[in-house]
Amino acid sequence: MSESKIVKLVDESTNRSSELPLLSGTLGPACIDIGTLYKDTGHFTYDPGYGSTASTKSAITYIDGDKGVLLYRGYPIEQLAEKSTFLETSYLLLNGELPTKDQFSKFEHDITHHTMMHESLKDFFKGFHHDAHPMAMLAASVASLSAFYHDDIDVDDADDRKLAAIRLIAKMPTIAAACYRYSIGWPFRYPRNNLEYVDRFLHMMFEVPSEPLELSPVAAKALDLLFILHADHEQNASTSTVRLVGSTGANPYASIAAGITALWGPAHGGANEAVLEMLQEIGSADKVETAVKRAKDKNDNFRLMGFGHRVYKNFDPRAKIIREMTHKVLGELGVNDPLLEVAMKLEEAALKDDYFVERKLYPNVDFYSGIIYKALGIPTEMFTVMFAIARTAGWIAHWIEQHETPGARIGRPRQIYTGADVRDYVAADKR
Ligand code: SDX
Repeated sequence: MSESKIVKLVDESTNRSSELPLLSGTLGPACIDIGTLYKDTGHFTYDPGYGSTASTKSAITYIDGDKGVLLYRGYPIEQLAEKSTFLETSYLLLNGELPTKDQFSKFEHDITHHTMMHESLKDFFKGFHHDAHPMAMLAASVASLSAFYHDDIDVDDADDRKLAAIRLIAKMPTIAAACYRYSIGWPFRYPRNNLEYVDRFLHMMFEVPSEPLELSPVAAKALDLLFILHADHEQNASTSTVRLVGSTGANPYASIAAGITALWGPAHGGANEAVLEMLQEIGSADKVETAVKRAKDKNDNFRLMGFGHRVYKNFDPRAKIIREMTHKVLGELGVNDPLLEVAMKLEEAALKDDYFVERKLYPNVDFYSGIIYKALGIPTEMFTVMFAIARTAGWIAHWIEQHETPGARIGRPRQIYTGADVRDYVAADKR
């Protein structure tokens, strides 16, 4: 990272000025370092959605929203999608380099031997109603992990941090499958060490006690690819949440649980569930025009879920890959889902409509993914849980990066105060 020019900022009302360094990274826009602005001028900056604000330096993921570029540690998402696996991509996000054969074997061995959850955690589920949303059960269960691992969660210890990463990546599928099994009243399934990461998850999700599960290579490949595409995405809302919670010194399980709850929102990871509900509400291709009209109507809070993105003002590269994959997977599985036609008509109508074109609203990662999850037999309320399994790799990579950064400080934004001016207390009988 280099510090080159200086940006001079002058407040003409007070004639106070600040000379602010311009910081440049490997790729992307330069950033004005405003660290001394308040001291120099007495002013804060204001950017409530952080649309123009870099919250940190990071070497993990790079996005160019105008060009539709997404790199994990410099590798284009298209190449990782074609050539890598989710576990290898997780290693890359955590360590910064693709693993050698030996490094990957050790990583895979470590993950495989940390997949079980404590038996007492299984009892935890009994406190939930059977119809609890799986995201509620997932967030609570992951937060509770710190109750089982209190002996090795020293955030300043590199080995403890690495062990937490292994445990979280390993246990998320086990806990996620338990959330699903609990919601349908089926007994939990122990992770099978002889299965690969995604097959092991599908086995824990769908194997019934009465008969062996026939695993589908098509399903496993599709899910592994979706996990790669969802693994990380720079400083999105949930990753920023993990970093803010991590900046207080909170343990990794509490930090990741905070990320899970942030992801749940329909404006973020909850969009994949909302897209399916929207497609089902639209129902058929002939109702698409009405949906597009509603999405443009400011008096109607209906939005095209799965459309638009704070950073991508071009196609989300992940959406392109998932769209192609949807046709292939449904074809290979012999699934004919009428919602796919609704989605394609909706995309076609929106991409021709000035409202969406002017605002550069394109399908994002959540637009098609739910159709594939549905074809794999995953229920709608589990879609965001899928997203969380994958994003755990990115969240914990960012959490570790922040703890490896010397001089990291607690995140504590300021505000514009719009409340009452100072005033004296009024006795109750005088109000
Ligand atoms: C994810 O940040 C990440 O990287 C997230 C993510 C990741 O991998 O971590 O990529 C995952 O969260 C993807 C996004 C999933 N969310 C949705 O699909 C929900 C629908 N999309 C929107 O709610 C919205 O587009 C956001 C939240 C994604 C982005 O919101 P912004 O950047 O704050 O944009 P905005 O709300 O200011 O919208 C700009 C304009 C507005 O119209 P005007 O005020 O200019 O007239 O576009 C309109 C909005 O009303 N608009 C939409 C729309 N999205 C934006 N209008 C209709 N339908 C939509 N989906």
